[in-house]
Amino acid sequence: MNGSQDPTTAQNQASAPAGVSAGSSAGAAAKGKRALIVGASSGMGEAMVQQLVAEGYAVAAVARRQDRLDALAAAAQGHPGRVVAIAHDVNRVDEVPGLVERVISELGGLDFYVYAAGVMPDVEAEEYDTEKDLLMVDVNLSGFIAWTNPIARYFHSQRSGTIVGIGSIAGDRGRKGAPVYGATKAAMETLLESLRNRLAERSVRVVTVKPGMIETPMTEHLDKLMMPVSAKRAAKEILKVSRGKLWNTRHIPLRWLPVSLVIRSIPSFLFRKTSI
Ligand SMILES: NC(=O)c1ccc[n+]([C@@H]2O[C@H](COP(=O)([O-])OP(=O)(O)OC[C@H]3O[C@@H](n4cnc5c(N)ncnc54)[C@H](OP(=O)(O)O)[C@@H]3O)[C@@H](O)[C@H]2O)c1
Repeated sequence: MNGSQDPTTAQNQASAPAGVSAGSSAGAAAKGKRALIVGASSGMGEAMVQQLVAEGYAVAAVARRQDRLDALAAAAQGHPGRVVAIAHDVNRVDEVPGLVERVISELGGLDFYVYAAGVMPDVEAEEYDTEKDLLMVDVNLSGFIAWTNPIARYFHSQRSGTIVGIGSIAGDRGRKGAPVYGATKAAMETLLESLRNRLAERSVRVVTVKPGMIETPMTEHLDKLMMPVSAKRAAKEILKVSRGKLWNTRHIPLRWLPVSLVIRSIPSFLFRKTSI
């Protein structure tokens, strides 16, 4: 990606990319109420779109399934906010700079961004499948990097904005059951911490949320969820935490924090014997 392609380079010192002035586009939303959700077509991403629209946000909703995004846009009619549906596969990283420019133009700016896209295919105990593993790296991590870099640069120039990444309790330890899924979440969380430290002096907030077991299409094939909560409740909590000032990293729901602390403290030789 070079500077002339990226809508958010230092060349464009204003808070909007060249050729786009904040608030200039048709139907531009009020400052503070422009959001982008990547991974918006189901589960927690979809529930966040629905809540933000009810609150009056203009929301760019990104995912592959156009029909589900269109349904979200149609359902937004009659609510104070609106949905801009953008069909996109996060594996197409080449498309991202243009899409970021489009989002900023169509919303009239950007204040709040959540990367909620993710995949967690079943991995058998004795399975070592590179194709499956690299799909998780592509969607959970590479897509996150491709979307977050231009947005971080834009928020850096703008001196405001919130970036939210969805990690997982699965990123806490090297579990037998989800080796690469957990590794992508651990990497994502480390990257989010770096971004938080880089962007703090520019008044940009970077939040890591770590859901426990949430009832979404991602988990519906699992036999039993421990302490499950609905996608709607998780989304509500993610938005509240992200827009507050108290937490930079937060388990969703909070009762997973002590569980996570215990799991983290189990010595390796004992953890190996568990099926956690
Ligand atoms: N559910 C849980 O218990 C749980 C716990 C911890 C963390 N998480 C994390 O929370 C996030 C949201 O997951 P969820 O539980 O809400 O699951 P979900 O309902 O399966 O949602 C996943 C979202 O990711 C999108 N996505 C997947 N592959 C994509 C691709 N190649 N390009 C663009 N979008 C893609 C999906 O949209 P399309 O299929 O339409 O593209 C969908 O909108 C994920 O990062 C997940 O790892 C979930």
